[in-house]
Amino acid sequence: MEPLLQIKELTAGFAADHGIVKAIDRISLAISKGQTLCLVGESGSGKSVTSLAIMRLLEFAGGRILEGSVRLSGDELTNQSQRQMIRIRGNRMAMIFQEPMSALNPVFTVGEQIAESIRLHQRKRKSEAKQMAVEMLRLVGIPDPETRAEQYPHELSGGMCQRVVIAIALACKPELLIADEPTTALDVTVQAQLLDLLQQLQRELGMTMLLITHDMGVAARMADQIAVMYAGAVVEIGTAEALFDHPAHPYTVGLMQSVPSMEGERLSELRTIRGHVPSLHALPAGCRFHPRCPLAMPRCSAEAPSMLAVGPQQQAACWLYDEDAHSSNRPDQESRAYAMQDNSRVLDSGNGEGGIR
Ligand SMILES: Nc1ncnc2c1ncn2[C@@H]1O[C@H](COP(=O)(O)OP(=O)(O)OP(=O)(O)O)[C@@H](O)[C@H]1O
Ligand SMILES: [Mg+2]
Repeated sequence: MEPLLQIKELTAGFAADHGIVKAIDRISLAISKGQTLCLVGESGSGKSVTSLAIMRLLEFAGGRILEGSVRLSGDELTNQSQRQMIRIRGNRMAMIFQEPMSALNPVFTVGEQIAESIRLHQRKRKSEAKQMAVEMLRLVGIPDPETRAEQYPHELSGGMCQRVVIAIALACKPELLIADEPTTALDVTVQAQLLDLLQQLQRELGMTMLLITHDMGVAARMADQIAVMYAGAVVEIGTAEALFDHPAHPYTVGLMQSVPSMEGERLSELRTIRGHVPSLHALPAGCRFHPRCPLAMPRCSAEAPSMLAVGPQQQAACWLYDEDAHSSNRPDQESRAYAMQDNSRVLDSGNGEGGIR
């Protein structure tokens, strides 16, 4: 069966002084209907650009898709007109952004804003849309929704506002929900409640989710699949179970070792991997991670690795997994972990440049 979302070799970028800078480079991933894929990676790795490219909103942020394909239930999105995309965004896919306050309009009541979203996408009379808005507020767990519908965003807490944002996104009953750091701005308790809510709504509506997060705890809690991004490329992809049990790419190994508990740690605060993310203007040749990789081989600085199978449900863009070339050199889990520990000691000794920022 065709995945609900299938992205193949998607490349997108921004115009710069010396030509085009690719913010994402040949990204491929797929999500089956009803599943959640978490996109993780350091700040600047291209997570938001990926989501904006899927929604075809990248054009409005000054960027564009250069190559590749995005299919939603088999329909190619990269060649749709923006007029067609308005319909698709309204009816089949929706997006939630990080900052709930900036997503809402301060001069309209939250009820009006949900009703507006309903009326934009469904032919409903005003009174009917208003009633549906109240029901949406109830659905996202807002107590006394009749009263709340009459209030303005500033009268609601951050968590309540994000529930309203979720209600607006769900008003069109999307097949695909893209959530870009939907709970990062909120405190831990509210964050947990909202993640539960998203999961519950996902089950009820059979929705497919692409969830972007800095937080490995969130990924552990929500993901069926995880895709790890580094400097604009997907370096590992697989089931959440496989990635947490036996991360394969040295970068993922570093990320996982940086998670003291599964709760609340942000990748931006991690300091396990020496060095820093390269600038998109000056990407290293070969594997983008090789200057930071404790297991780098001569080949890694010469040739960019393609995605290689690590297990039945896991792939990594790393030459360590090239069976043909050096199966005898393939490190086991223990020696990989040891090498990465060694790597973090480089930083502990004050030699690193700040690790993941
Ligand atoms: N409007 C823009 N113009 C030029 N470059 C941009 C623009 N938006 C993003 N970029 C660049 O694209 C790259 C990827 O950015 P993106 O916002 O996707 O990162 P991210 O993974 O979402 O990071 P974060 O975790 O901080 O949200 C970065 O190098 C960024 O500087
Ligand atoms: Mg982002």
